[in-house]
Amino acid sequence: MNKRIYSISNIYEKIISPILENDQGVDAEYLTNLSLNILKFSSSKREWPIMKNIFKNISNELCIKSEKLSQNICGIDFINPIGLAAGFDKNGIAANIWRDFGFGFSELGTVTKFPQPGNKKPRLFRLAKEQAALNRLGFNNNGSTSLEDNLIKQKIKKTKDRKNICLGINFGKSKITPLDKSTEDYLASLKQLIPYCDYATINVSSPNTEGLRKLQDPSLLRELLYEIKLLNECPPLFVKIAPDLNFKEIDEICKLINEMRIEGLIATNTSLDRLGLEDRIILQTGKKLMNESGGLSGKPLQIKANNIIKHIHNNDKKIILIGVGGIDSPKAAWERICSGASLIQVYTGWIYKGPLLVPEIAKGILKQLEFYKISNIKDAIGSGLKWQD
Ligand SMILES: Cc1cc2nc3c(=O)[nH]c(=O)nc-3n(C[C@H](O)[C@H](O)[C@H](O)COP(=O)(O)O)c2cc1C
Repeated sequence: MNKRIYSISNIYEKIISPILENDQGVDAEYLTNLSLNILKFSSSKREWPIMKNIFKNISNELCIKSEKLSQNICGIDFINPIGLAAGFDKNGIAANIWRDFGFGFSELGTVTKFPQPGNKKPRLFRLAKEQAALNRLGFNNNGSTSLEDNLIKQKIKKTKDRKNICLGINFGKSKITPLDKSTEDYLASLKQLIPYCDYATINVSSPNTEGLRKLQDPSLLRELLYEIKLLNECPPLFVKIAPDLNFKEIDEICKLINEMRIEGLIATNTSLDRLGLEDRIILQTGKKLMNESGGLSGKPLQIKANNIIKHIHNNDKKIILIGVGGIDSPKAAWERICSGASLIQVYTGWIYKGPLLVPEIAKGILKQLEFYKISNIKDAIGSGLKWQD
């Protein structure tokens, strides 16, 4: 029997990749939800002997183990620096599966206090030619109680001996909550979910919730972070920022982060800029791409997101950075780390390239470490070392 036929990468290549080459056809959101539900089912049956076997094969194919990739960052053990970015598993329905896909950590959410349906469909569009996506989902999620239930079902409450699962949870403001009541809204979901996460992300950068980005204003952000820091057993905090801020605005946020002893920043969320994309009609809506609202992700974001990491790290080496935006290859991951990111996350690139992207990035980093005779990835962070083919 040819084992390769049954490998996850082979199935992806044969079934999913051809669908992704086309902007029309199977709806992008439908495809995401279908994959997630298959994973949810598999996760709930992982004790079945047949599933155990399948998971063993998946993890043999996708997990690269090396001490050189592991780091302890603000007290959290990361077995490798590659994470699943927020937005894919919003409700945590497959939370205990991501490690089998080779990820060193995963970020669930964005979760809001109240369940909410998000914006009108269609609201997620593939832009295959540019390996990009446009989304205006609008924090569609089942709310913090549902996320908690899902984590309980998967038995992943944080304990001292919780092994192999490294979990961030990304928090956002509920749509029905007015901006001046944001703090209470964030606090309610945080309080509920602190027992489950290794770190918490304060998302003030989604372009699809009206007014949310105003919370990036230092005076409003200070108020929000001040209350969050007072929470009992507050985990390490990361603030997720937009790529559409200018360097002066970013510097002000960095100043605040230092002052308030916030652990780090996640840069970046999706962009309102169309980043040089060629205009065309989006067939699902009949409107021009440039007239569609939403945030752009994927390859066109790569340079901008990398420049932001570089800028922050050059100005301030203390802030821990998680780099995300357009990472779609081992080279792009290495560049982000050498620009100053301690950890990286993937989303759009992972969808287009498939599950093999994670082990390929891990192997690529290991090769570079070997080339430069570096014994642990932490010594590459912000080093400016160039990728060697
Ligand atoms: C469909 C989709 C949904 C997303 N949902 C969220 C979200 O709920 N919260 C969040 O912080 N970021 C969300 N993001 C942004 C990603 O986490 C990431 O920051 C961004 O896409 C850039 O990375 P990428 O180019 O690798 O996709 C979403 C992105 C996409 C494509």
